[in-house]
Amino acid sequence: MMMRRLTCTRALLTHFRFIATEVTSSLLTNPSPITPVDQAHLIQVCTILYQQHNSPDLRLHSSLSSCNLRINSEFFLQVCNTFPYSWRPVYRFFLYTKTLPQFSHNSVTYNKMVDIIGKSRNIQLLWEILQEMGSCSLVNDKTFRIALRTLASARELKKCVDLFHVMNGYGFRYNLETLNNVVESLCKDKLVDEAKFMVFKLTEWIKPSGVTYRWLIWGFCNVGELIEASKIWNMMVDEGFKPDIEAVERLMETLFKINKYDEAMKVFQMMRVKRMDDLGLSTYRLVIKWMCKRGKIEVGNMVLDEMRQRGIQPDNLTLGSMIYGHLVRGRVNEAYRVVEGIQNPDISVYHGLMKGLLRLRKTCEATEVFRQMIKSGCEPIMHTYIMLLQGHLGKRGRKGQDPSVNFDTIFVGGLVKAGKTVEATKYVERTMKGGMEVPQFDYNKFLHYYSNEEGTVMFEEVGKKLREVGLFDLADIFERYGQKMATRDRRRSRAVEP
Ligand SMILES: *[C@@H]1O[C@H](CO)[C@@H](O)[C@H](O)[C@H]1NC(C)=O
Repeated sequence: MMMRRLTCTRALLTHFRFIATEVTSSLLTNPSPITPVDQAHLIQVCTILYQQHNSPDLRLHSSLSSCNLRINSEFFLQVCNTFPYSWRPVYRFFLYTKTLPQFSHNSVTYNKMVDIIGKSRNIQLLWEILQEMGSCSLVNDKTFRIALRTLASARELKKCVDLFHVMNGYGFRYNLETLNNVVESLCKDKLVDEAKFMVFKLTEWIKPSGVTYRWLIWGFCNVGELIEASKIWNMMVDEGFKPDIEAVERLMETLFKINKYDEAMKVFQMMRVKRMDDLGLSTYRLVIKWMCKRGKIEVGNMVLDEMRQRGIQPDNLTLGSMIYGHLVRGRVNEAYRVVEGIQNPDISVYHGLMKGLLRLRKTCEATEVFRQMIKSGCEPIMHTYIMLLQGHLGKRGRKGQDPSVNFDTIFVGGLVKAGKTVEATKYVERTMKGGMEVPQFDYNKFLHYYSNEEGTVMFEEVGKKLREVGLFDLADIFERYGQKMATRDRRRSRAVEP
């Protein structure tokens, strides 16, 4: 008998997921001493709950009672963590704990259970428990967030609205802050339609604020529904709220991203006409970035002039965009003139310059910028290397003449060595079959495979070979990577060790 119970317990151990994070953090933050949860007890209880989840209450309760539990909130939370997606064992344990005179539930334990009931989509039970929490005054903002996430994703729209009414009935009064809190979390979960429905059905009781509208605009932009976003926008303006600058920028950025440049510029224009005082560096930077990306350097210049006239100095990122913008249009001299005007350029300036030069296929010159930036004390980052390698070798990786240093040897061979034979075969197959699209080579992954001691050695060797055949640019790039980047993480972690 004893034997059987033991094996069974061990088998169950692997079934249960003991997630202790919540408990540990409350242990750390709660000043009152908490008796740590007895793991053997926990396993025993969870085993009973698991095995007897269909037994009648009487039998289950008597089994649980035979454990002689000393239950506290932590214990309950740990049981919840063991069954994160199944309401039944948790709820049945909850019913049992209610029969214990020495223990009472609080908002934390209730919220935890509500979360699990919600995740297992038992709307009926959820609704009952919420009422119970309301009548015990244990509802808080977190309860609202958890409950509404469930109700909204189950498209229980009427209940979403009703929750506010019901809770108001229990003394948890209509509250703008709670509403905004909920709207924010719904929008972040991409439940913006549901959030909007709720807000508009509640206007009679809770008047939305600028914050409410801002989240809705953000939410619609976030899911790419611009028409809805602009409707909310207009409504907000009609109600006399000023959309804050973050909402404005979010909208503009979304418009730029989906190639609605004219629409984005209309918003910018509206801001210039109506709210010039609110326009600062961040909005100008955004417009300049996208104008330059598209090669509209004239517009970029005008915007730059305007911000300067208003006493706003462009930062490195903005100037980096301008440099790139000039280069997109082949104006190399203008680009360098901008660079020369910057006293202490940071990496974004160099990146703008390199990216533009590479686009003009001036790979030598771009590599010279790379050397220059190192000389001036600005260390390249992963993005720098990927950009340069793509520039030199093409997004798909070009074959070289000399077999000892061509793309296949370095990269495909490198992948094979890193144990990535499948990927390697894929590249080889595609390159061999002429005319077929070769997939974009993942330089990022490749460099990461070799971010270790082995990489340091390999990049040095590759560098030597490349030099022998006169490919000095590539040699410099790889060598620098091997020296500075390959063991960067290890050096970093070594630095923090005592
Ligand atoms: C660019 O960045 C560097 C380093 O952070 C800083 O010293 C310099 O003032 C910045 N330049 C501009 C134009 O913002």
